[in-house]
Amino acid sequence: MDFRHLVSSSDALSKVTADALLLIVQGPLVDGLLEAPLAALIEDAISCGDFELKPGRTLYVHRPAAMKVARLLVVSAAAGGHKAFKTAVATGLGQLKSSGARHIAVAMADPAVLTSLHAQALATAAADAVYLYRRTKPSAPAAPTATRFTLICAKGHSRDIAAGLQRGAAIAAGVTLARDLANCPGNVCTPTFLGEQAKRMVKSHGLKVEVLDRKAIEKLGMGAFLAVAQGSSEPLRFIVARYEGAPKSQAPVVLVGKGITFDTGGISIKPSAEMDEMKFDMGGAASVLGTLCAVAEIKPKLNVIGIIPACDNMPSGNAVKPGDVVTSLSGQTIEILNTDAEGRLILCDALTYAERFKPAVVVDIATLTGACVIALGHHRSGLFTSDDALATELLNAGDAALDPCWRMPLDDEYGEGLKSNFADMGNVGPRAGGSITAAMFLRRFTGKYRWAHLDIAGTAWKSGAAKGGTGRPVALLTHFVLSQVK
Ligand code: BES
Ligand code: MN
Ligand code: ZN
Repeated sequence: MDFRHLVSSSDALSKVTADALLLIVQGPLVDGLLEAPLAALIEDAISCGDFELKPGRTLYVHRPAAMKVARLLVVSAAAGGHKAFKTAVATGLGQLKSSGARHIAVAMADPAVLTSLHAQALATAAADAVYLYRRTKPSAPAAPTATRFTLICAKGHSRDIAAGLQRGAAIAAGVTLARDLANCPGNVCTPTFLGEQAKRMVKSHGLKVEVLDRKAIEKLGMGAFLAVAQGSSEPLRFIVARYEGAPKSQAPVVLVGKGITFDTGGISIKPSAEMDEMKFDMGGAASVLGTLCAVAEIKPKLNVIGIIPACDNMPSGNAVKPGDVVTSLSGQTIEILNTDAEGRLILCDALTYAERFKPAVVVDIATLTGACVIALGHHRSGLFTSDDALATELLNAGDAALDPCWRMPLDDEYGEGLKSNFADMGNVGPRAGGSITAAMFLRRFTGKYRWAHLDIAGTAWKSGAAKGGTGRPVALLTHFVLSQVK
């Protein structure tokens, strides 16, 4: 995809050359902003009852007189910032999807309000609009129609807009990678496959990648991770991918992603309805690779390390059983009371492994609990941390990236349910507050560094007719990583 900007004023839109012009009108029409014929056209449509300046309403004009474009689509947006802009752009691009337009110019009636965040919103909305899953679907269209987007901006803003488009394009590439990985079925996207995908990023993105196999994982002593993997004949992998943009002496940002390539629940087996969606249980891992992809394109001066424990969670004669006690890499023992609470078991060993990097900060990302979906639905990811400053940084990153999260509590009282008579802790607590107990479990392995946990169970994929990975929270994580540049 090709994103460019063009300096022009809104009283020169008749001269724009593209296959389509998407004109976003935020709030009421301001006198004298648009060229008279264009303003008259919109006013006339309003007086005829064909258009309203209400958010979401659109007006399509084919071959508008005295304009160079063959297609004009006017979209009314709510007043406000880049969020309302992105919603309107998404509406417009959705409507133009069925047109033949390859090159789409996007203009705001008042271009002076555009910021770098608007430019990023355009790039990510465009990537969303044209996304196609193809890997296991030969009947899908070979390529999207629209491939080129030009944002019309005001004089003096072009540097900001260009930088925003570039950052947005990088995030879009990361989101697309994460969506593709998540959408891949469990028989294709195995732990081995994830390791190979990471290895490919050595060449394509200049990352350094290490993939550990069972022998190395056993040698390290990751007893909790191994226990989850032991029920499956699919070999497990532990993936470490590094982006080095600063001297080695600089403490890295570490991202840890849950990489369960299929979660049956194990012996505590899940009901069969919608179990296919448990192929998305590697959404955290996908978001770590997607973020590394975006970061490697933007090339900030800092170090980022992605850590991914990857395996299937299967029932079998070798599978771990409820009541089994395992020893984690940290030395703490865990009574596995429910084999379906497997995410925290693979993450706890990865979080202990992260200590060796002396990280500046560690963020783990996991489709961890159904309880988080009940608490927050599908709009905001759950954010858990005891560090107020870190919480603010992640909340701000989510708002800027339009990939929002919401802070949940971590009072010590929530940890009481994890008591076990036979080990240092159980892997589950009571049903109530299930996403918080899961985070409390993880917290026991993160004492040596600044840490936050993102539960993306409600945001990593969509169900129903639009079933598919969302690529979240790549945008949030990329903004967060960039905010850590000193
Ligand atoms: N991968 C699931 C969480 C999940 C469930 C995400 C549904 C999205 C939709 C996780 O491994 C799991 O099974 N969690 C259990 C934990 C419980 C046994 C304490 C859950 O949420 O039911
Ligand atoms: Mn599970
Ligand atoms: Zn799971």
